Formats: sequence, structure tokens, C-alpha cells
Amino acid sequence: MIERATPASRRRFLRFLAASPLFAQDSGPLLASPADALNVFDFEPAAKAKLPPAHRGFMMTGTDSDETLNANREGFRRFQLLPRRLVDFSNVSLSTDVLGLPFESPIYLCPVASHRMYDPEGELAVARAARARGVEIMLSTNTSTAIEDVTRERGKPVLFQLYTAPRWAMTERLVKRAEDAGSRVMAWTVDTLGGRNTETYNRLRRLDTRECATCHGKEGPARMERRVMFEGISLAGRENPDPPPTWSTIERLKKITRMKLLIKGIVTPEDALLAREHGADGIVVSNHGGRAEASGRGTMEALQGIVDAVGPQFPVLLDGGVRRGTDVFKALALGARAVGIGRPYIWGLAAFGQPGVDRVLDLLNAELRLVMRQCGTPAIAQITRRAVISR
Ligand SMILES: Cc1cc2nc3c(=O)[nH]c(=O)nc-3n(C[C@H](O)[C@H](O)[C@H](O)COP(=O)(O)O)c2cc1C
Repeated sequence: MIERATPASRRRFLRFLAASPLFAQDSGPLLASPADALNVFDFEPAAKAKLPPAHRGFMMTGTDSDETLNANREGFRRFQLLPRRLVDFSNVSLSTDVLGLPFESPIYLCPVASHRMYDPEGELAVARAARARGVEIMLSTNTSTAIEDVTRERGKPVLFQLYTAPRWAMTERLVKRAEDAGSRVMAWTVDTLGGRNTETYNRLRRLDTRECATCHGKEGPARMERRVMFEGISLAGRENPDPPPTWSTIERLKKITRMKLLIKGIVTPEDALLAREHGADGIVVSNHGGRAEASGRGTMEALQGIVDAVGPQFPVLLDGGVRRGTDVFKALALGARAVGIGRPYIWGLAAFGQPGVDRVLDLLNAELRLVMRQCGTPAIAQITRRAVISR
């Protein structure tokens, strides 16, 4: 049956249009400078406006209908703060300790592939911002700048994110290179091993009229020969890959490195316990920013059960949908030792290069300081479950 247009149905339709992400980009004037941003969300439309469709789609994409991507944001709304009054907050400190490493802020930069897709300076611009703001970097295996150069620009070793390679000998070389660059922590990402359906990306790349092979070569973005971390590594035998990794791969990795090992991409208490049992030094509760599977479950929903299962001694980090200082605070209150951001710093990078990343980090650290004062917890260690309540 065809519904006749009535004033009420027209209003419903306009409300639907206004809420549609298609129009979100036009919701306000684009930022003229990083200083104009009032929060990290302000950088998203500015970044999107600068990027060609394929790169924009790759950055934005979740999986299927974005149910996990949306759940990551929703997860934070399930928790409310319990502010406390008349506590002396004259000295607020963000510094903390993660796996024996001193962090000036509990906020760190998640591994995000190929920063040069967003800015010609790529990882170097990000490293300069991280250095200026005292923030730690977890660098992707799929970095577009060599780990040695990023380390130099950051002024200290980065945490290294590992994707195991098709053959074990290649994985060993990657691990050795990170160790030689000074890295003391490695996070092995395990949440995309079975494949994924990145629908927004697939849709937007169709709109891109540029010749991708000019930059990516004939085989496209995934081509290993072009990745800097694989320089000098023989790729022989990659057409006959080893069987997929399993829990016992943790023991194998531990044998070939002195770096502390985090397992990134854990979303259930069962897997958190298995990671610990097999010798991991900690885990990152993550669903790849809603880019792994369409579970529809956010990382904040998973965090509490995981921390309860493994206990307070086992290091647990979290990422996914973190956009506010209050988000960081809530994750810390539930037991995360550090909290990662992915897209927000990429928005800053794509929109303005290093100054954009600088501003994103300033905003988040300032928001975190503010909520710490308002909740009467001027030190990170004072942020406990007493500071939040769930709906
Ligand atoms: C464009 C993009 C590329 C990513 N590349 C990697 C990667 O190379 N390795 C990895 O472990 N995670 C990767 N991730 C996942 C992030 O490390 C992190 O888990 C996620 O971005 C956090 O969610 P957020 O973007 O909502 O902050 C990527 C995420 C995005 C958005």
C-alpha cells in the first residue's frame, strides 16, 4: 500500500534524513584550523572532506551494517559517572604504568595501518605529535613508515603491533626487527584472522575514479612487497601459508622474543583466561574498532566481565569508540590500565597533519583531567569502580 504524504509523514521523513549519516558531513561549517575544534568529533567531517572515497571508506568502515561500530559508542552510555565534591585536586596527574613502562597519559594511539594514506608525513607527523604530548604509540605491522624512523621521531621506542605473516620465518623477522628497534611490548592482533566484510569500504571504493594501481601496484593495497616492515624479508613460500595460528602460537611467540606480549582483539572472559593460561602478559579488549565481526557487542560491554575473570593483576587495555575524556575515565574505572584511540587521531591527521593530531590529544587529555577533578580522583590509581554506575 502506498502511504499518502501527510504533514506528519513528511516530518518523519525529514527527521530520518537529518539523522542519516549521509548528511552528517554537512552538519556545520568545516574547521578552519585545529584550534577551532571543541571536541574530537569536529575533526571527522574535516577529515572526510579531504579524503578520496576509497581512503575515506577504509577509515570509516565497520563490518556488515556497522552494528559493532555503533555498539562501541553505545557501550559508554551504559555507564554513568558518580562525581564527588570537595576533594583536593590541585595536583592532577595522568601518569601511570603499563607493563612496566611509564605512560605520561593512559591514552595511547592504536595501531592504524598506512598513515601516509591520510597525510604525506604519515606516521612521522603522528610521532611528532605523540612526542610533544607525551603519548605512547602502538605501531601497526602495516605501517607506511619504517619502525626505526618512527622510533627516532617519537624519541623513544614504540609498542609494536604484530600481524603474524603467512610463514613463521617471516613472523620471526618482523618480531626481531621490532625488538632491534627497541620495542619492549608487542601486541599480537588476533581478531581478523577469519576475514571480514567491510561493507562501507567496499561501497565507497566503487565511487573512486582514481587509478589505484598508480600507488598500490597491480595487486592492490594488500600487496606485501610494498610494505615497509617486509623490506628485506624473503616472501618465498607465502603462496603455501602455514596453518592458521592457535593459542599455542602464544608460547611460540614468547620463545622468540623478550618483549612483553599483549593479545589484541579479546572480547570474552573465556579467551582472556586462555590468553593468560598460554603465557600472554596482558590483553587488549578490542574488536578492531567495529571492523572485525558484526557481533553487535561493544568493547565496554565486554570489559567488566573480562576484568572480573582475570583479576586486577593481569593487565587489560581497551580500545573501540573512545571519543571523550569521560569515555577514557569509564574504561579506567572498570579496570583498563590504558585506553586506545584509533580514528580520532586519524581524523586530526587527515584534516591538518601534525597540528590536527596535537589538538586531538590536547582535547582528550584536557577532558580527562576535567572529569578526574570533578570525580575527586586526581590520580589514575584513584579511578575505581566506585566512580561509575551502570544503567
Ligand atoms: C583505518 C584503520 C586501520 C586499522 N589498522 C589496524 C592495524 O593495522 N592493526 C591493528 O591491530 N588494528 C588496526 N585497526 C584497529 C585499531 O587498532 C583499533 O582497534 C580501533 O581503531 C579502535 O577503535 P576506534 O577507531 O573507534 O577508536 C585499524 C583501525 C582503523 C580505523
